[in-house]
Amino acid sequence: MVGIKTEEEIELMSYAGKVCYELLELMETEIKPGITTQKLNIIADKFIRSKKCTPSFKNYEGYPKSICTSINEEVVHSIPSSRKLKYGDIITIDVGACYKGYHADTARTYRVGKVSKEVNDLLIHTEEALYKGLSVIKPGIKLNEVCSSIESVAKKYNYGVIRELTGHGIGTEVHEDPYIPNYSNTESELILKEGMTLAIEPMFSLRSKEVWLLEDDWTIVTRDGSPSAHYEHTIAVTKDGYKILTGK
Ligand code: MF3
Ligand code: CO
Ligand code: CO
Repeated sequence: MVGIKTEEEIELMSYAGKVCYELLELMETEIKPGITTQKLNIIADKFIRSKKCTPSFKNYEGYPKSICTSINEEVVHSIPSSRKLKYGDIITIDVGACYKGYHADTARTYRVGKVSKEVNDLLIHTEEALYKGLSVIKPGIKLNEVCSSIESVAKKYNYGVIRELTGHGIGTEVHEDPYIPNYSNTESELILKEGMTLAIEPMFSLRSKEVWLLEDDWTIVTRDGSPSAHYEHTIAVTKDGYKILTGK
């Protein structure tokens, strides 16, 4: 079942979303060679709580930290640790905040210093795919139009689309119906309606789309070790389009 949120519910998600946006802006200023991902986690946890929210991911299905910090070939769900960022790394910070029972979820991939041209382009194009997917959203369209718009960008640049991970509905739970694959498929038949709240999140890799789950049971990496990028926004479907809840 895909729920419809009231204006009041969307307001609460919008507050949580603004906190997440501000946190990703703060992360930008903290990300530099030598900082540990655990330090980023502590900063993020404090920030979220200082805004009267709770970190959505802490204890989610047993997840031990407040944010996900995925470096280079790590696609998603890397657990913050004593690992230090190195010059030339890329790192995806994925954050979630809950305000009065309502969640927002957003992610961005950052460059630690300067990265190679092909990695830089991967980041630019994965973000482009997020906005391409968003651009078609309005009441009356089929969900698959979002999926295929995202995929079209990956195809254009020949990136791998991670198939095991998808976008999702969001609200009183971090993950609600529907699943939103980043590729065209026959299951995304849902017709979008005003008041639906969705997390759209393309995840592309430079080469192979195949992934592994590491022994920590959380971290998902590309099998061939190629770098991957991830951009995510939580949005609400509006009367004539959509509103980003995890933006400015
Ligand atoms: N942020 C992830 C998503 O975009 C979910 C993370 S859940 C966690 O759907 F437990 F791994 F943190
Ligand atoms: Co996320
Ligand atoms: Co998400």
